[in-house]
Amino acid sequence: MDAIRIRGGKKLSGTIHVSGAKNAALPILCATLLSDGESLLRNVPALRDIETTSALLRFLGRSVSSSPPTVKVDAGSQVRPEAPYELVKQMRASVMVLGPLLARFGRAKVSLPGGCQIGSRPVDQHLKGLEKLGATIKLERGYIIASAPRLRGDEVVFDMPTVTGTENLMMAAALAKGRTRLVNAAREPEIEELARVLNKMGASVTGAGTDVMEIEGRDELAPFDHAIVADRIEAGTYMVAAAAAGGDVLLENAPLEDMESTCAALKTMGVEIGREGTAARIRRTGPIKPIRLTTEPHPGFPTDMQAQLMVLATLAEGTSTIKETIFENRFMHVPELARMGADIEAEGNHAIVRGPSRLQGAQVMATDLRASASLVIAGLVAEGETEVLRVYHLDRGYEHMERKLAAVGADTERIKGTGG
Ligand code: EPZ
Repeated sequence: MDAIRIRGGKKLSGTIHVSGAKNAALPILCATLLSDGESLLRNVPALRDIETTSALLRFLGRSVSSSPPTVKVDAGSQVRPEAPYELVKQMRASVMVLGPLLARFGRAKVSLPGGCQIGSRPVDQHLKGLEKLGATIKLERGYIIASAPRLRGDEVVFDMPTVTGTENLMMAAALAKGRTRLVNAAREPEIEELARVLNKMGASVTGAGTDVMEIEGRDELAPFDHAIVADRIEAGTYMVAAAAAGGDVLLENAPLEDMESTCAALKTMGVEIGREGTAARIRRTGPIKPIRLTTEPHPGFPTDMQAQLMVLATLAEGTSTIKETIFENRFMHVPELARMGADIEAEGNHAIVRGPSRLQGAQVMATDLRASASLVIAGLVAEGETEVLRVYHLDRGYEHMERKLAAVGADTERIKGTGG
């Protein structure tokens, strides 16, 4: 497994290009199952999760030619509506083929995704919603066995906002008979992006981005050509990197309109963020200030930015508090940051971060996607050398992170295949 080696202490300056959004591309790739013909996705990031989803679509019978930033998906001659454990276990978001397969082919056998490092990650809301649209669902030997001659529109009320749960139901409803109303729907920008694609395909989705959505189902949908929106979490991650290391970085096509809570938190901590056309300029010249932060569903502060912001808090002059309300175990970066000298006390879903700490370089272990990013950021400011092991976690959601950072002056390099 590869590692990334960082020698800390360099300020960042220059331009970073923000890639297409992983969490928009994944549901949109699943939406290609809803129609025949060839769909074209542009501005797709070169990530492991994209490769995994392409492999799953091929397994289902689609022909996929994936050369990021372009991915073409064509309906094959036959379909095998089964998503096996060996593919689903690599990426939980694979469960998003369930809605499209059920709506289009009337049956689906999809492995239960199981938990991951950050939590148990149940899919009960997905299943309850599909049953409300008329599906018969059984759980057998770790698989979801679903069937429905034809889904029919109805009202689905989610117990909590779930991003992929909302996306699964949007795709199922787009081919259901009649109108579906999703209440307590997730409001993330990726939901609005999927709605734009479903509307291009011929469905009628209104209310995306609010907590109530209405979807007029169709008998048939058309393939689409769509350029994926920029990744707000990747952009936020590089904003934190620039703030932590100091310097002056221009983020090309940063989706600032989707990043209000992230920008507000960074400005509270003394980071300057200015819009320059479609780019954002990030500077941090003064001291970093502490923050009281709680993660929330969009438009609140995103859980996917929590680990990154915690690194910045270790450098702040004062005490910060961070509350993680979305996942039950999303502080795995804490013990690794503590090994680098951070002063963090985590109790349940609360963390108290006392700063400023002088971080020292160390060998650290990546665990989940965003925790890995926070360890790289810590390495940028630590004294000496940091080696982040098991960066396959990072490669799931960040396109060549070490190259993008090196291009703005960081001393980062990828070490091929070092155990660990
Ligand atoms: C999506 O995961 C994202 N993944 C996650 O990003 C992100 O952290 C998460 O939303 C929250 O914003 C993709 O979009 C592919 P949820 P998802 O369903 O949909 C509970 C990353 O780093 N819940 O919105 O799986 C759940 O346990 C990844 O890119 C149920 O109880 O998250 C959690 O507490 C990590 N039952 C809360 O809802 C369900 O059926 C929100 O989870 C579904 C969810």
